[in-house]
Amino acid sequence: MANLVVMGAQWGDEGKGKIVDLLTREADLIVRFQGGNNAGHTLVVGEKTFILHLIPSGILHKDKKCLIGNGVVLDPEILCQEIDNLSANGIEVTPERLVISKKTHLIMPYHKLLDAAREAFKSGEDKIGTTGRGIGPCYEDKMARIGIRAGDFSKLDLLRSKIKKALLEKNVILKELYNQEPLDPEEVFKQIEPLAKRLTPYLGDVSAEIQNANNAQKSVLFEGAQGTHLDIDHGTYPFVTSSNTVAGNASAGAGTSPRALKKIVAVVKAYTTRVGSGPFPTEEKNEHGDYMQQKGSEFGATTGRKRRCGWLDLVILRESVRLNGPTDIALTKLDVLGGLEEIKLCTAYKYKGQTIYYPPQEENSLAEVEPVYETVPGWKEDISTCRTFTELPENAKKYIQKIEQILNVPVTIISVGPEREQTIRR
Ligand code: GDP
Ligand code: IMO
Ligand code: MG
Repeated sequence: MANLVVMGAQWGDEGKGKIVDLLTREADLIVRFQGGNNAGHTLVVGEKTFILHLIPSGILHKDKKCLIGNGVVLDPEILCQEIDNLSANGIEVTPERLVISKKTHLIMPYHKLLDAAREAFKSGEDKIGTTGRGIGPCYEDKMARIGIRAGDFSKLDLLRSKIKKALLEKNVILKELYNQEPLDPEEVFKQIEPLAKRLTPYLGDVSAEIQNANNAQKSVLFEGAQGTHLDIDHGTYPFVTSSNTVAGNASAGAGTSPRALKKIVAVVKAYTTRVGSGPFPTEEKNEHGDYMQQKGSEFGATTGRKRRCGWLDLVILRESVRLNGPTDIALTKLDVLGGLEEIKLCTAYKYKGQTIYYPPQEENSLAEVEPVYETVPGWKEDISTCRTFTELPENAKKYIQKIEQILNVPVTIISVGPEREQTIRR
């Protein structure tokens, strides 16, 4: 199989974990290229459910190698916990199976404190509703060129001095602005030191790993986190995450050429969900939204928060297609829509008296649009046992075909349940 990117086309939680786990069978290396443990990717294998936050979703396949790219922000404490949890479930994450780029930035204790303090300090409507994992503050330090990187694990003196320098500024902010106890640099160093020693054997050259694999005709799967509309540039700013989530970042965030990205699979949930704050034009704060929330068990895999739910928004998806250029769509959670009399699809917006087909680009303008809906008949049948396209009820087929026709991208994977087998390939 050719190299491929799997990315979210909406506001995250589209079911990327399941699709990556499925496509891992056809890849040799699986690499995360952005985000951190704000992600929660769920994999259901038989009786067991795994939620992965940092380690690529390919790890359950024991013959595959996983990589954490330079574009990721890595919390060493969480990574060690994740390695231990997998080990307790019979999956050994050895340095032969997991390689961390020396250029990957590290989430430090003060990043988490700042994330929480800043959110707490904001008034109601300004709150982003972050996952509180320190993601934003860590990316800030990366851009400010004062970040600590995984490669520093093997140079403890450097690690100690970088923590000291970073805290010069952080402690003023923590104390003066947020009224918090300043951190002692030596205490922070002592907290990180054992993690550094444990993780040093995992450090490597991710770029070279990818190059070597490709030279040997092996294929690489780039696993996206979050979704296109949480992208720091193209998402609903400021209600976004702090990294580029679009497919193009797979090359910068893993250290490979854009020419290496052959296939791009956009994961699209059959309806829309969002966790945290920010505009959501097709949100249904009523019995329809409740139906999707309950039937789809829409709770955040990282924070446990109830996800906001609404109809499929083809306007934001048109933009996702423009930004990512997917070769394929993986349509997930189609089973959840079963049992509804009618289903709505948002095909355009009304904005400032005009009908528009792409989202307006001004900040927060998505809060001002009015969705234009097309209503289609639903289906009563339980489709979770369907394994071929032909078995699907006519109205489910028509729903899929409408999405293909409007987005002009083939739906080649249809997911009808959380398990590996509950999948239709076309
Ligand atoms: P990710 O962050 O994109 O990997 O998605 P999450 O794991 O956060 O959320 C997706 C949820 O939907 C998980 O609980 C999955 O087990 C579940 N899921 C994935 N695909 C399907 C599907 O086709 N049908 C149903 N009912 N659940 C699914
Ligand atoms: P996966 O990979 C859904 C959201 C948060 C918040 C905003 C900023 O599982 O799809 P952050 O902690 O990143 O600074 O929070 O982004 N968010 C996600 N929403 N799925 C995710 O990841 C998310 N990662 C971050 O809820 O609104
Ligand atoms: Mg998730």
